[in-house]
Amino acid sequence: MKIPNTFGLDVEAAVFLEYNSVEELEELIAAGRITSPYLHIGGGSNLLFTDDYKGVILHSHINNIEIVAEDEETISVRVGAGIIWDDFVAYCVEHGWYGAENLSLIPGEVGASAVQNIGAYGVEVKDLISSVETVNIQGVKRVYRVDECDYSYRNSIFKRPEMKQVFVTHVSFRLSKKEHYILDYGTIRQELEKCPVVDLKTLRQVIIRIRESKLPDPKVLGNAGSFFMNPVVPRRVFETLREQYPLMPFYELGADRVKIPAGWMIDQCGWKGKSLGPAAVHDKQALVLVNRGGAKGADIVALSDAVRASVREKFGIDIHPEVNFI
Ligand code: EPU
Repeated sequence: MKIPNTFGLDVEAAVFLEYNSVEELEELIAAGRITSPYLHIGGGSNLLFTDDYKGVILHSHINNIEIVAEDEETISVRVGAGIIWDDFVAYCVEHGWYGAENLSLIPGEVGASAVQNIGAYGVEVKDLISSVETVNIQGVKRVYRVDECDYSYRNSIFKRPEMKQVFVTHVSFRLSKKEHYILDYGTIRQELEKCPVVDLKTLRQVIIRIRESKLPDPKVLGNAGSFFMNPVVPRRVFETLREQYPLMPFYELGADRVKIPAGWMIDQCGWKGKSLGPAAVHDKQALVLVNRGGAKGADIVALSDAVRASVREKFGIDIHPEVNFI
């Protein structure tokens, strides 16, 4: 069975299992169907398969949304891990619930959003999550409160190797019913000023437009969004680099650490729009690697290695893939 993945790689799983409820997952576990090696995937939007997968791939179709609590200002919703992330954002916007709109159009599913701590335009999903429900390979259920998930930039407790045996089944989010927006990232404010009204729907449209202008549609050009994480460096390293590159963009992370956009560095190395075989660096956003057609996982890895070597040579900084190599 083919493994769905947004890179458009032609890869097969020896066994592909899908389930529609926690009970169905428990049945698969009890029947011993989930044999090692196994891997639970979401939408396949953050995975790079370097070969066929000779084990069991699991995928959730749990797709219910239920309101679990509500007061004048907030609403708490419990959402199945198999729901497409952007469908959930659209649902929130339609219902007038504030908080998720800056995360519009991020590929992937709700379960993976909580594993990966997806983020964009000044919001990370951890800001919205209240708890994460799981079942492990022994069939034991556990709910993690958000403060137990150890969230940081594109990272969580669920990314630790020993947590591969823990499957996210539902994520609970707390959203706001009171109008409020986060507009300070990049060009959002300027774009919004061009619109006749400022409301939730308009902001979602603005975010979608900004993303579409830079990020390739995986249905047209295979990709996994940002391929690399933005490296965090000690301020000393940043100051030295800035003397040499005064226009280098950066994000302050407190007193002694600075995050530098990997996309800018890759662009400065001259990689934007360049190919290596059937893999290429996207011509509108250098942080994204694309499959020009017919690429194998190994072609993407070769390009990733070449890009990393250039950045290391020019800036002395190691950048690391955000995408998981399987
Ligand atoms: N830049 C360039 N050339 C490029 C790309 C970027 O000069 O080819 C410069 C930009 O001009 C800007 C800076 O680098 O000054 C940062 O670029 P941008 O704002 O486009 O975002 P990013 O830091 O590259 C991050 C996330 C994205 C998220 C955007 C918006 C990571 C790894 N990526 O990208 O997340 O959408 O911010 O918040 O943190 C994803 O994870 O898949 C993803 C797309």
